[in-house]
Amino acid sequence: MKALVLAGGAGTRLRPITHTSAKQLVPVANKPILYYGLEAMVDAGITEIGIIVGDTRVEVEAAIGNGAAFGASVSYIPQTAPLGLAHCVLIADEFLGDDDFVMYLGDNLLEQDLRSFVDAFERARSSPQPPNAQILLKRVADPHRFGVATLDDDGHAVQLVEKPEVPPSDLALVGVYLFDRTIHDAVRAIRPSARGELEITDAIQWLISNGYRVRTELLTGWWIDTGKLTPLLEANRLLLDKLEPRIDGDVDADSVIDGKVVIEQGAEIRGSTIRGPVAIGADTVVVDSFVGPYSAIGANCHVEGSEIEHSVVMNDSIVTGIARLEDSLIGREAVVSRSRRRPRALRLMVGDHCQVDVE
Ligand code: TTP
Repeated sequence: MKALVLAGGAGTRLRPITHTSAKQLVPVANKPILYYGLEAMVDAGITEIGIIVGDTRVEVEAAIGNGAAFGASVSYIPQTAPLGLAHCVLIADEFLGDDDFVMYLGDNLLEQDLRSFVDAFERARSSPQPPNAQILLKRVADPHRFGVATLDDDGHAVQLVEKPEVPPSDLALVGVYLFDRTIHDAVRAIRPSARGELEITDAIQWLISNGYRVRTELLTGWWIDTGKLTPLLEANRLLLDKLEPRIDGDVDADSVIDGKVVIEQGAEIRGSTIRGPVAIGADTVVVDSFVGPYSAIGANCHVEGSEIEHSVVMNDSIVTGIARLEDSLIGREAVVSRSRRRPRALRLMVGDHCQVDVE
């Protein structure tokens, strides 16, 4: 079995961060989102991985390389424009050949590992009536925001609709799919949707309408599409909660470390309180500050005279004199500073290389 990981796309919902960088590489709990997906794939025994890349190809390739660091062999499949999830299958046909594969959206995060999902498909494939695809579903409170499935009594999908006004069920499609080679016929048969994309829901519906079997599995753990700020901060919170505390950096006698905290090598904490769950990256310096629950500060940052809570600060950034920064995403090499400290909380989404001076 192979994997097709989707890391192209426009990322309009995470601008300005995605003006300059790939949304799949934004860190949660100080690790790029895409790494979690690749690790899940390798844990499920899938090591032959094709990654769809778009405008941010150079950055994605620099972060993943040939995949050896993950125990995988990675090839890159360039997509000229984000023409839809089914378009990704269309352009990957040479890489995929006739093999079964997992398709995984590179900006999705799942609590549960993939192995049971992959194993269930492989077991079903050797049954007398093997499925041609398997989709992963999650019960949600707001199905109108997702692709929604209706099932028959055997748990096979009978109908899929994209973002329905009146949802036929509360079963949303999660961004992990398993396919056999018949999906290649489906993506060639369908036409672009009203928004101009080749939709994977249309391709799966084509399978169903043409008599192929689409198995379903229900996801019980959490699943987050990190494409927007609020879910991204939520993913950061959920993953920081799973941290194994570890202090490899330097903490002076005037500082207090409380709760689940990871401080990487080369980091320095001086006269500060760090209240976990918190991750502080390598070579980051925190001076006279409070870093509160659910914050991830990247590598080589400088935080001084500030309070940060429930935020992600990416590598090489500076935060100084900020009375309170909360629910924020600060890009790489950004500077957020205030000359005089005033008791006002800031909620910011700051792009890479930006400078924000607060009067
Ligand atoms: P989406 O979040 O559906 O689309 P997007 O990346 O264009 O984002 P936005 O809505 O903010 O503009 O994409 C899901 C994943 O699939 C994401 O990792 C990007 C990737 N993708 C591709 O690689 N090629 C595509 O043609 C599309 C539509 C998405």
